[in-house]
Amino acid sequence: MQIAIDGPASAGKSTIAKIIAQKLNYVYTDTGAMYRAVTLLAQQHQLAYDDEAQIVQLMSQTPISFRVLAGQQHIFLGTQDVTTAIRLPAISRNVSQVAALKKVREILVQQQQKIAQDANVVMDGRDIGTVVLPQADVKIFLIASVAERAQRRYRENLTRGITTSLSALQAEIKTRDYKDSHRTISPLRKASDAIEVDTTGLNIAQVVTKVMEIIQQKL
Ligand code: C5P
Repeated sequence: MQIAIDGPASAGKSTIAKIIAQKLNYVYTDTGAMYRAVTLLAQQHQLAYDDEAQIVQLMSQTPISFRVLAGQQHIFLGTQDVTTAIRLPAISRNVSQVAALKKVREILVQQQQKIAQDANVVMDGRDIGTVVLPQADVKIFLIASVAERAQRRYRENLTRGITTSLSALQAEIKTRDYKDSHRTISPLRKASDAIEVDTTGLNIAQVVTKVMEIIQQKL
């Protein structure tokens, strides 16, 4: 069983996908975290974010993996736990540039497809329903207004000690959405057979109920 959850930045994809995966006892895969990890790898080696050859070379030496520790999913770059580091503003600002690189996408998409081959999955990202798992059993496209997405990210950031202003977050979300939907390779778009869920004004429990209703019809 494959459940694809796509949508723009900070639409609540990972929060919802995590809860759904837990309810169904499926593997949750945060593909955005993988692009963020590659961006961090480039940053740590002081590479330009468009230096495809060097980034790909580093990726071949540094596997990205997920591990569950004390009930929480962590992401590793080699042996380094980068779960917190990949959420820093410098990574959010630059990840779209790295995610636009063809070879980076090829490598990560292959890894994502392998994860989905071996288990029932809830996978979230930008191109899951269109490119990674075009045969997914359920495709959800989560959206929400920019104002609400910035508010949610603001509150989430505060719990992590990140204090970027609301207006800066709005600008960052808009820029990232623009870059993600206008890149040449696998741009962010709703698959023709995806069901759109607008989460503006809804709380987490309400969105989970909506998404679970859609999934139940397919189970
Ligand atoms: O989901 P998240 O906001 O953490 O994703 C970070 C970035 O990774 C996105 O803005 C996008 O540039 C990239 N991404 C992607 N394809 C995916 C998941 C994320 O290009 N499947």
